Amino acid sequence: MDHDDNQIVPRDVLPVVIIGNGPSGICLSYLLSGYTPYLSPEGTHPNPLLQSKLEQHSHVSILEQDLEYLCEGLEGRSSNPVAVLFDSLLLPDSDFGLDCASPLLWRYQPERAIRHLVLGKGPPGGAWHAMEGSMLTLSLANWMELPGLKLKDWVREKRKNVRNDRATPAEIASYYQHYVTQMGLQDSFACGTTVTSVQRDSREEGAGRGPWRVQGLGWQGGEEVPFTVYAENVVLATGTHDIPARLAVEGEDLPFVCHSFWELEAAIEAGRLDQASDPVLIVGAGLTAADAVLATHHLNTPVYHAFRRSVTDPDLIFNQLPKVLYPEYHKVHQMMTQQQQHHHQQQEAPPRPGGSRVSHPEHAPSSFSGSYPGYVSFPKHHVVAFKPDRKCVLEGEGGRRTALQVSMALVLIGSHPNLSFLPENGQPLSLNPQEPVSCRRNPLDVEPYTYESLHEPGLYAMGPLVGENFVRFLKGGALAIATHLSRKQRQQQQGEETNTQAV
Ligand SMILES: Cc1cc2nc3c(=O)[nH]c(=O)nc-3n(C[C@H](O)[C@H](O)[C@H](O)COP(=O)(O)OP(=O)(O)OC[C@H]3O[C@@H](n4cnc5c(N)ncnc54)[C@H](O)[C@@H]3O)c2cc1C
Ligand SMILES: *[C@@H]1O[C@H](CO)[C@@H](O)[C@H](O)[C@H]1NC(C)=O
Repeated sequence: MDHDDNQIVPRDVLPVVIIGNGPSGICLSYLLSGYTPYLSPEGTHPNPLLQSKLEQHSHVSILEQDLEYLCEGLEGRSSNPVAVLFDSLLLPDSDFGLDCASPLLWRYQPERAIRHLVLGKGPPGGAWHAMEGSMLTLSLANWMELPGLKLKDWVREKRKNVRNDRATPAEIASYYQHYVTQMGLQDSFACGTTVTSVQRDSREEGAGRGPWRVQGLGWQGGEEVPFTVYAENVVLATGTHDIPARLAVEGEDLPFVCHSFWELEAAIEAGRLDQASDPVLIVGAGLTAADAVLATHHLNTPVYHAFRRSVTDPDLIFNQLPKVLYPEYHKVHQMMTQQQQHHHQQQEAPPRPGGSRVSHPEHAPSSFSGSYPGYVSFPKHHVVAFKPDRKCVLEGEGGRRTALQVSMALVLIGSHPNLSFLPENGQPLSLNPQEPVSCRRNPLDVEPYTYESLHEPGLYAMGPLVGENFVRFLKGGALAIATHLSRKQRQQQQGEETNTQAV
């Protein structure tokens, strides 16, 4: 096979290759395409300190400024300073529910563009395309939007007559897809491509560090063909939804135990779940688990919901989301909370031991009927084992065990990124190289103002890979990386100029 003939990717060494075409990759592509943020002449930021810093260089684009200096003294819901800065520039004071106008003015300056290529398995939009069966709707609040295209305006235009001001994940996915064409970024995207290896090219040994060699598989003429592309800089923006986390308990491989939301969807579509089914056990207390609770509850299929944390734990994602913007998630949190009280009552008369069938909440004592019939939560419980007769053994505080008869069990306790295209699955690049990479516990170790790896110069990471799970804050990574790359580019150009002068 002649690889050189394929047109999937350019043949020369590109300044930047971005791996992943979700919101992270799209936002960075926007900034690298010449869209440049300035302080708008009429713009004022509600934070007077930030405003005065911005005014000091009001004619200079944000991409040429000292981000560390601008970040100083800002506080927000992310621990990444540039994420807080960019969020505050795009959506000032939105934590207080204020719809304050952004002080930024975006100028399209194609002469500033840095050539790049975005690779990604599916259509632009990343994980949002995988959430399509989701029950939830999202507030059209601007947190999911990318710079330069108001989510609200786009949905209004698309729907013609607005029925409500909430959007489904499918609509958000389609917003991202539309964004790429609207901003004219599509020529930088090679979708339907899967990266299988990223390495330094050793050909140029002796001549300093060689470029990155990125290899993968793409589609051409209905056939899957390998490709190779070279780049000076590589950005990892692959998200973390690839490998579901496991409990590592007995019986986890039994056929009734599933680890992804789509297996629930498949069971629903096949008509395998209804009111008469044995309960579905959902393990986990993240957004995907919440989604599964809603989808199952919506079918009137009874739900058991087990999670390790207490409902008031500040690390619980529901305690970090604003209620107004996320009413569905708030509802799940309420269900979890109210059932906990029942659970206390239940503890006075614990379920019969020996794995006897636990009664369906509707047949349970009257205390169940008040709040959410068909739903029972087990806070501060973990799974001990799954048995072949579809029983799940849970253990609560103090070692108290409960056996539940279920129709299926869904383990939705997070996921690991698939960095199999890097040496040792990227582990040497993480905060703790002894552990596998994980968004929450062991993200990639990057410099906070450039997002460049502390272990591999020329390699960057953003989004969930560096612990930034929300679209609202992953945009900060794009700003940091674009700022650093444009500084590198200016230095290179200056270097070339001095060289020419010397000659
Ligand atoms: C149920 C649920 C609800 C959520 N709700 C919200 C919400 O309300 N608000 C919010 O801000 N966030 C929410 N999120 C999180 C949201 O998904 C992430 O914030 C966001 O999608 C991360 O963007 P990303 O571009 O970094 O990664 P992703 O969106 O995961 O995109 C990465 C892309 O890279 C591709 N990729 C991976 N490996 C390779 C490879 N080797 N080669 C080529 N391509 C590859 C993947 O296929 C994927 O399409 C939710 C997540 C879930 C699961
Ligand atoms: C990781 O991704 C590679 C390439 O897409 C794939 O071959 C492999 O099966 C994935 N690994 C897991 C554990 O999903």
